[in-house]
Amino acid sequence: METTACFTTISVCWPQKRIGHFSNVSNCTGFLSSNPSKSLSSSLFKNSIFGTRVSSLMATNLQVSGNAPIEDLGSSSSGLIGEHDLLIVGPGVLGRLVAEKWREEHPGCQIYGQTVTTDHHDELIKMGITPSLKETNARHKFPYVIFCAPPSRTSDYPGDVSVAATSWNGEGSFLFTSSSAPYDCNDNGPCDEETPVVPIGRSPRTDVLLKAEKVVLEFGGCVLRLAGLYKAGRGAHAYWLDKGTVETRPDHILNLIHYEDAASLSVVILKKKLRGRIFLGCDNHPLSRQEVMDLVNRSEKFSKKFEKFTGTDGPLGKRLNNSRTREELGWEPKYGSFAEFLEKI
Ligand SMILES: NC(=O)c1ccc[n+]([C@@H]2O[C@H](COP(=O)([O-])OP(=O)(O)OC[C@H]3O[C@@H](n4cnc5c(N)ncnc54)[C@H](OP(=O)(O)O)[C@@H]3O)[C@@H](O)[C@H]2O)c1
Repeated sequence: METTACFTTISVCWPQKRIGHFSNVSNCTGFLSSNPSKSLSSSLFKNSIFGTRVSSLMATNLQVSGNAPIEDLGSSSSGLIGEHDLLIVGPGVLGRLVAEKWREEHPGCQIYGQTVTTDHHDELIKMGITPSLKETNARHKFPYVIFCAPPSRTSDYPGDVSVAATSWNGEGSFLFTSSSAPYDCNDNGPCDEETPVVPIGRSPRTDVLLKAEKVVLEFGGCVLRLAGLYKAGRGAHAYWLDKGTVETRPDHILNLIHYEDAASLSVVILKKKLRGRIFLGCDNHPLSRQEVMDLVNRSEKFSKKFEKFTGTDGPLGKRLNNSRTREELGWEPKYGSFAEFLEKI
């Protein structure tokens, strides 16, 4: 099985500066390692949930133009992948901000991004991110891997996370951006890193997140549970503003973190090379839905006005506090609250 996973249909790309004598390798939908089946099998077969994924991965084909033998492309990550190179699975809004911040910290590093479609590959290339499609999978191992793709576009989120984990070489960090949704609190009460999570089986939404987190922790990666992400044109406030009237209760407590702060927190965690830890990302300023939209209306920073929430029932939320995360990591958000953000824009 050592190299039999590598046949000939998907092209591979290499950063120009490290191509060396393989400059004719075609551009660019997958990464390649010298020994893909070995690296996959050694990690994937650890856990039975990976069984079906392995077979599909083994069937994934790679193409090296010019008939360059796979083994000639390098025998280990050294020489091809640098010590600060980063793979971003899901280089969307958060992932791209992580890329920017990572490059500030590590000028000259190489950043790779795995996506579902090729729709945004041109944008990624312009940002200096080498794109690939997720089904081609990284045939190379990276010292830093962040999985920041949402669960909405896959039927096997934990499986996707496990595949991403096998792209990590175990040296730097592997970070998964999860959600604060699994914390078992829906009475608008206090909630922090120590709050127990919803038991498996109660909700498909939290099941999928908890199963993905489990995979990450088993691989020695870390989990960052994020509150609701927002920036000026994206997030709950933007969605509700667009609708005008929303059929949910107004008193549900919402927890927020600005995309830039989620990115800075992710980078802090990546840099610390921690293992098997769970952190919480929020701004420590929970607000009710009504308070959020009152702030939006009063800010006069948006062209539309929000009308109203019309719901009277449904679950309440939680009041997140991540003082432990802040203290341990020495991290503080740039936007201390949604109100502060609105003042700054
Ligand atoms: N939004 C929130 O309020 C919130 C709250 C808590 C946690 N989070 C978490 O925060 C992270 C970042 O969110 P975001 O808003 O930045 O995400 P986003 O912008 O929606 O991410 C989109 C990117 O992910 C890629 N992608 C989607 N599914 C994928 C998959 N299964 N495998 C590989 N790539 C995939 C997309 O590929 P294409 O380019 O092909 O479209 C695109 O590049 C996610 O992990 C999300 O679950 C979000």
